[in-house]
Amino acid sequence: MMDQLYREFILDHYKNPRNFGDLETRDAEFHDRNPLCGDEMGVHIKLEGDRIADLRFHGTGCAISQATASIISDELKGKTVAEVAGLDRSFVAEEIGIELSPTRLKCGLLSLKVVQGALLGTDEWPTGTPDEDPDEAEVARLRNEI
Ligand code: FES
Repeated sequence: MMDQLYREFILDHYKNPRNFGDLETRDAEFHDRNPLCGDEMGVHIKLEGDRIADLRFHGTGCAISQATASIISDELKGKTVAEVAGLDRSFVAEEIGIELSPTRLKCGLLSLKVVQGALLGTDEWPTGTPDEDPDEAEVARLRNEI
């Protein structure tokens, strides 16, 4: 059972997402979907040298996917491309304050995936993403809860 404070934290970012939208001028972008559910996430990034100066996420998805993008967005500003390359599942867990269950990991890692896709040209999921996917019924159930 998720505790109330955590639920409120996630819901706040879900309902009032930070750094969502588009950047008219951008140096990098990427778009992808969670293959488990079809939810989508894109990112626009403005660079200063090799550092992220600004970024915006856009897309639709469950509370975890949208809230995670919002939560990590400010932390990503100022990071170098090399630093972004080193980010993995543990970065997301640290930022959102809990270790996501295996069934929620692709929801929680989609935003980091698109940032790494934009800056590194990779289509790989971040390090720490499980190889095994949950079954469809489990994904359908998770879409409707935090
Ligand atoms: Fe689709 Fe989470 S991103 S259920």
